[in-house]
Amino acid sequence: MAAYEVLSGKRVVLGVSASIAAYKAVSVASALTQAGALVDVVMTPEAQELVRPLSFQAITHRPVLSEMFHLLAETDIGHVTLGHRADVVVVAPATAHTLAKLSLGLADDLITTTVLATRAPLVLAPAMDAGMYDNSAVRENVARLRERGAVVVEPEWGRMASGLVGQGRLAEAPTIVETLRVVLGRGGDLADWRVVVTAGGTREAIDPVRFVSNHSSGKMGYAVAVAARDRGAEVVLISAPSALAPPLGVESRPVVNAEEMHRAVAKAIDAADLLVMAAAVADYRPRQAADRKIKKHGGELLLRLVPTTDILADTAGMANDCLIRVGFAAETDELIEHARGKLERKRLDLIVANDISELESGFGSDTNRVVLLDRTGGRRDLPLLPKPEVAHHILDEAIRIQAERIG
Ligand code: PMT
Repeated sequence: MAAYEVLSGKRVVLGVSASIAAYKAVSVASALTQAGALVDVVMTPEAQELVRPLSFQAITHRPVLSEMFHLLAETDIGHVTLGHRADVVVVAPATAHTLAKLSLGLADDLITTTVLATRAPLVLAPAMDAGMYDNSAVRENVARLRERGAVVVEPEWGRMASGLVGQGRLAEAPTIVETLRVVLGRGGDLADWRVVVTAGGTREAIDPVRFVSNHSSGKMGYAVAVAARDRGAEVVLISAPSALAPPLGVESRPVVNAEEMHRAVAKAIDAADLLVMAAAVADYRPRQAADRKIKKHGGELLLRLVPTTDILADTAGMANDCLIRVGFAAETDELIEHARGKLERKRLDLIVANDISELESGFGSDTNRVVLLDRTGGRRDLPLLPKPEVAHHILDEAIRIQAERIG
């Protein structure tokens, strides 16, 4: 499964109600369409005063719908058909008025009718001026919709069109699209799997301001976590410091050093099906971190290092029988030989031999060149690929290994 995209081929109904933020829905429609979704935009008549339907039509290459009975007449498929065939319905922006109608079950326009008719998951992205979102009537409506299963993308804090500051700004398009990925991913081929992923480079303190670390950005590990999430897994991401934002729909557990990562992994793998150690864990740490900043003096400074615990090797003894354990081996030379050695020493099911001899592969890059080696001697050489694609190949292998175990 090379290019896995959970949105590809999915039917998304995007309801746009009349908030000033309606223009942001154009970016949502664009991102969904680019990801391969079939996007049917449904607008309230008032929303069309704010954004021209043509903007959506040009981006989605599909007609924009508004009138319930026009649709009935033109297509002879009934005004509930949109809802019936949708994989997901998202209302963005959802005004206070639309939320109130949805909460009451009213059906006086195409958005509310579609929501009532659909059996697909419902995602709501409220947007309204400061003060309104705090109103108890709105809060109650949102709470009731949540109770019925709607996923709510919380509006952001900030300056409103009115000039007031508060919570009510429509969430940014990437957040809304990411939420749709999470929702659509449920029921994927990793549904019922619990996946633990480590990412980033650990930091081993020298003193309160200095540390020993490496160049890991976290990109590879985060890509594995997001890929597993998009395929329906429950994911725990144990991350050493990284500039990346914690992914939506993933349980993030930040750690700093190898010892903290060790404890977090030991705790998380208890009921897990898969452990993927993409983190670059320090092999050595300063024997004793100074509790005060070390002062500069003329001569040499000797840093005494002691080995850290090998987390992966340690999990061989403590892991439950079902756990599939995947390690990485970042190598500049003798890639296969060194990786096979680690696979055996750490008693892994799979090792991702990571060729870091070229600039576009390994630490910090968006792409990676890897060879997948399993404990039965199996080998798959992958070309240079974006890290999310590498992540999906690793997950495919984990699924294969599990299927072989079950027999
Ligand atoms: O984060 P990015 O910038 O995207 O970069 C990705 C990456 C290069 C960090 C990643 O693809 C990768 O190769 N990670 C492993 C890095 C590494 O240095 O591995 P290693 O050969 O030191 O360790 C082998 C395996 O043992 C790894 O899975 C590692 O997580 C694990 N290990 C290592 C040391 C230790 N004390 N405990 C461990 O569990």
